[in-house]
Amino acid sequence: MEIKVSTLSENTALHGYIGEYGLSLFVEADGKRILFDTGLSFSAYHNAQIMGIDLTSIDCIVLSHGHLDHTGGLAETLHRIGRETEVIAHPDVFEPRYALRDGQTQERFIGMPCSKEELENHGARFTLSKEPVHITRYIMTTGEIPMLTEYEKVESNLLVKAGEKFTPDKIADDLSLIINTEFGLVVFTGCGHRGIVNILNHARKLTASNSIYAVIGGIHLFRASEERIQMTIAEFRTRGVNKLGVCHCTGFYASAKIAEAFPKEFFLNNAGNHFALP
Ligand SMILES: [Fe+2]
Ligand SMILES: [Fe+2]
Repeated sequence: MEIKVSTLSENTALHGYIGEYGLSLFVEADGKRILFDTGLSFSAYHNAQIMGIDLTSIDCIVLSHGHLDHTGGLAETLHRIGRETEVIAHPDVFEPRYALRDGQTQERFIGMPCSKEELENHGARFTLSKEPVHITRYIMTTGEIPMLTEYEKVESNLLVKAGEKFTPDKIADDLSLIINTEFGLVVFTGCGHRGIVNILNHARKLTASNSIYAVIGGIHLFRASEERIQMTIAEFRTRGVNKLGVCHCTGFYASAKIAEAFPKEFFLNNAGNHFALP
């Protein structure tokens, strides 16, 4: 199987593209065209145009989780597609998400900016499932990720609002996209809030495949402990990962550590980047 990936939106950008904090990947594989996340605002559809990618031809959209930097571009993308489009996500994707940043006293909204009804009016046809959803025999979402490792925790400043109270957000809607190929699993993550080792373990369990060929996307290590970064690197080594296009919320320090550990496998996956696997 050949997989083509175009990075439509990421924090940083190649010359001629717009960088914007968030993520959006356009994935072509097994006869399908999948939009994985939609970026924070206009960068994904703007950059897609410059890359010559026609988003009206996509088969479905997969949302990794409800954070604004992955879903903010959804309404306008649907509007531009101009027809009914399947949107696959976890049922908790619409939860009211907030973050309390360092030095701030007021929680800031970071959830989906549009309601389910508004998005349906733009053409979204939601498939909401906690369980894995198959797009083809070889392409599936992970569904909800069990959190089993000791060292992977959701950041404590990420919150969900229930009534007037803020409680820690477990980000149960965090899901990844898996392609099961003859050369190993290709795993696309949004922020990987539930922990990339948990995600890879779950992907392996779901597919009964042991080898991970590639990890592409955000793996939220930007404030992770040294232990978590080292355990992540050890897991990539154990799995013999061949391509590491980790970006977005991976953060500079963890990215540098991963690049140092995997000089041939690591690459900067910024907006405007286009690559094929294997
Ligand atoms: Fe993110
Ligand atoms: Fe996130």
